[in-house]
Amino acid sequence: MATLKSLQNRTKKEIKKVKDLKELDLIFRKYLGKKGEIILLLKSLKKIPKGKRAKKGGEINLLKEFVEKAIKEKTEKIKEKGRAEALKKEKIDVTAPGKKITFGHLHPLTQVQRRVEEIFQSMGFSIVEGPEVENEWYNFDALNVPQDHPARDLQDTFFIKQKDREKLTNQEKLIMRTHTSPVQIRYMEKNHPPLRIIVPGRVFRHEATDASHEANFYHIEGLMVDKNISVANFKAVIQKFFRRFFEREIQIRLIPCYFPFTEPSFEVDITCLTCNGKGCSACQKTGWMEMMGAGMVHPQVFKNSGLNPKEWHSAERSREPRSAWQGFAFGMGSDRLAMMKYKINYIRLFYSGDLRFLQHF
Ligand code: PHE
Repeated sequence: MATLKSLQNRTKKEIKKVKDLKELDLIFRKYLGKKGEIILLLKSLKKIPKGKRAKKGGEINLLKEFVEKAIKEKTEKIKEKGRAEALKKEKIDVTAPGKKITFGHLHPLTQVQRRVEEIFQSMGFSIVEGPEVENEWYNFDALNVPQDHPARDLQDTFFIKQKDREKLTNQEKLIMRTHTSPVQIRYMEKNHPPLRIIVPGRVFRHEATDASHEANFYHIEGLMVDKNISVANFKAVIQKFFRRFFEREIQIRLIPCYFPFTEPSFEVDITCLTCNGKGCSACQKTGWMEMMGAGMVHPQVFKNSGLNPKEWHSAERSREPRSAWQGFAFGMGSDRLAMMKYKINYIRLFYSGDLRFLQHF
């Protein structure tokens, strides 16, 4: 049976050469498919004389089984190889250096605001917020700002476009708030003293921008109303705040000035952080830096919040001065605080969204 033997050798060689399942399938069809060589051989048995048929059939079947087995084994081999290669690709080098994860962080202005809140909260102040779109009553009138005050000028205030604006009342006329002080009124309308609040928030002024002015910036308002509150209490609270905020010894001084909603009013200066009070170019050789506006709450502000100023304010208190309620208020720019703390002299950097700058914090 030389032909069957050589057929067997041929299949053996061909199967050995196969590289993938697709090629192997071709071989299967070539020999064991419907018209495969071996299948055709089996079919041709019919033509062989009966006597020889059984023997020949047996031989062909052996060949068929041989080829089937060889293909099966080869299939396994190819699959095994595939699995090994996939594993090799999946291998993780645990010693390779890791990819550095970059974390985001809070904006320096947010960090400053949070720190201020933290310090005041530790002194018993609560955090309160108010609307950025305010009406003229809360932003000006209720705060005792006269109708013709220059702050209402188009130069300083952003007015919201409204139909027939002239016909509206000041409670209806909308503007972007120019300070956080209106929240004093809003809060006192709803909350009875004694009270201690901090109002952080965004304010807007129609100003020409320069190194230290932006049309949009952040304020932190403070208000404390209680029995017998005096300027001495204000000084104590604010000095403590500045010392904790700048983490160093700091002196403060009060300079008389004017705000319609406080009486008396003062500007608060702190020792220059650059020269420690000796006098340098940063403080125009004065040794002091202006930090905030403040004062004792004006009786009209209490009145406008629906409170009785006789009960609340020292200037109008009754014959029992020790039972009078009084308060102080202050307002400062958090941008300015941040600029001082981090020694930055250009306000617009905070709003530039420039990562090269922000990554320093
Ligand atoms: N609102 C004032 C300003 O914008 C600051 C201030 C607040 C002054 C409270 C006195 C009392 O400048």
